[in-house]
Amino acid sequence: MIRFEKAGVSFGEFKALDSLSLTIGQGEFVALIGPNGSGKSTFIRLINGLLLPTEGRVTVEGLDTARDDLFEIRKRAAALFQNPDNQIVAATVEDEVAFGPENLMLPAEEIEKRIDDALSFVDMLQYRQHLTANLSGGQKQRVAFASIIAMEASAYLFDEPTSLIDVQGRKKIMEIIQRIHEKGKTVVLVSHFLEEVFLAGRIIVLHEGRILFDGTPHSLLHRSDILDILDFPLPVHLEAARRFDLECSILDLKNVAQALRRRLG
Ligand SMILES: Nc1ncnc2c1ncn2[C@@H]1O[C@H](COP(=O)(O)OP(=O)(O)OP(=O)(O)O)[C@@H](O)[C@H]1O
Ligand SMILES: [Mg+2]
Repeated sequence: MIRFEKAGVSFGEFKALDSLSLTIGQGEFVALIGPNGSGKSTFIRLINGLLLPTEGRVTVEGLDTARDDLFEIRKRAAALFQNPDNQIVAATVEDEVAFGPENLMLPAEEIEKRIDDALSFVDMLQYRQHLTANLSGGQKQRVAFASIIAMEASAYLFDEPTSLIDVQGRKKIMEIIQRIHEKGKTVVLVSHFLEEVFLAGRIIVLHEGRILFDGTPHSLLHRSDILDILDFPLPVHLEAARRFDLECSILDLKNVAQALRRRLG
């Protein structure tokens, strides 16, 4: 469980996050969206202790980011950011994925198993011995995913993981994120793409460091005031879900198309 208790961050006079209180339960898939500078990256950084709150507190499974061991916190909440080039440190794919489990001081055979499992999970096993420098952007990002999957954290934090990746690569990465959630992990995803945000079970809209909306994708579809502030056009399948008030467990293209066919047919 991730908990914000009146947690805020100020840079001098400027409040990047203003006294947020919320709980993210184990196994939730939460998406965070908001205009540039609304505090999304600050929110993610607070959870894994890259930033400490200047007011209130943030806890991960009861561990306080300002008081407890950050290594223990990052073992539980692993983060991945936009640019894979900034996160990949090793020359080969296998060394890159081994890095985290080695830091956890796991036995050698367990490390081997985790490398194979994590690379299979992101469909990159055949690249195990390849040089990281020779991979495409999307492949590098999948290796970066494998590195944090190999840590077997309970929560995964993703800050715009698809923003620098081409459309095909983005789809693969979103499938990986959905499968991580299906394994029972907590997922917090920051994205500017509405079609990605609406795959979550819960959407939080940040605006100027405050929570403007916290609810289901279905309820957000009917908040035109908030969609106006976000100012991103609704993808056509979400526009259809809104107009026909379609109830889908996950608002992806396939489910919406099926629901629409049932409604019209
Ligand atoms: N180290 C810092 N010093 C001063 N101001 C900062 C610092 N880090 C962030 N900010 C400010 O805090 C606000 C929130 O930043 P944050 O990076 O969390 O926004 P964001 O929602 O992730 O934006 P984007 O969509 O551009 O990634 C911004 O106005 C930013 O300029
Ligand atoms: Mg950001």
